[in-house]
Amino acid sequence: MSKILITGAFGQIGSELIVALQAKHGQENVVAFDMAPKPASLEVIAEQGSIVDLAKLKEIVVKYNIDTVYHLVSILSARGEQDPNLTWQVNMDGLRNILNLAVEFKLKVFWPSSIAAFGPTTPRDLTPQHTVLEPTTMYGVTKAAGEDLCHYYFLKFGVDVRSMRFPGLISWKTEPGGGTTDYAVAMFYEAVKGDDYTCFVHKDTILPMMYMDDAIKAMLMLMEAPAEKIAIRTSYNLTAISFSAEELAEEINKHLPLAVKYEPDFRQRIADSWPQSIDDSPARADWGWHHEFDLPKMAVEMIAKLKIKLGR
Ligand code: SER
Repeated sequence: MSKILITGAFGQIGSELIVALQAKHGQENVVAFDMAPKPASLEVIAEQGSIVDLAKLKEIVVKYNIDTVYHLVSILSARGEQDPNLTWQVNMDGLRNILNLAVEFKLKVFWPSSIAAFGPTTPRDLTPQHTVLEPTTMYGVTKAAGEDLCHYYFLKFGVDVRSMRFPGLISWKTEPGGGTTDYAVAMFYEAVKGDDYTCFVHKDTILPMMYMDDAIKAMLMLMEAPAEKIAIRTSYNLTAISFSAEELAEEINKHLPLAVKYEPDFRQRIADSWPQSIDDSPARADWGWHHEFDLPKMAVEMIAKLKIKLGR
């Protein structure tokens, strides 16, 4: 039985991954680590601390006899531009701490990269797996460098580290914080609350996106695949659906009235530096990745879940 540590556990991905891993491995085998205290809504073994505190992390790995880490701590793209130094420290020192512990304790590691690892010189349509990475945000710089670091630890120390480049993730349980793709989540919230929405990217902005259930499924599939199937040790391209901000508003409007104004801010430049669609055929071929949620299916699910959550 795996003993699993999730870092950044109370964030957008972690709060859903906790439940999925508990269902698979048992509540007693999942430990949540975060800077924030445990939310009352989650039943999980919790440890509080900073990802740059190596001694604390080591203590937790020993205390719970951890063998697998889902390392989710990260400062996202928009927030990262407010404090690039802190972003480098949290994202890179955090990853290096986890990889060094992986060498010492033979840990298996999952670490998410992102479409932010790409930049304006990357082909924007059906972005290939192996292509130019010239990111222009500090978050993207830490993702591109992090991919190389993972690859290096695999080659040099044999660490079984696995990664995928997530597109924008859309979910209802926990809101994202500080990302560029957050407008897609915010649009659903405002529609369900019955409010208007001012979108911070242009209506024609197209980005690759994925519903959280698909993202959780992808993580579990990648981590359960036999090691010999994992041909890519930097990070796998991964995608589900691509749509413009306006297409999303139109889809939501089929269910609820939503008036959207478009007032691009500094995040437009970030969005414009990322791909519009992704070729994820290596993930599909190597470990059987396929997505289940298209735009209409995701919209129905998001609205139904948010209505319950927000009591509407
Ligand atoms: N969703 C992230 C962001 O917008 C990208 O990985 O920063």
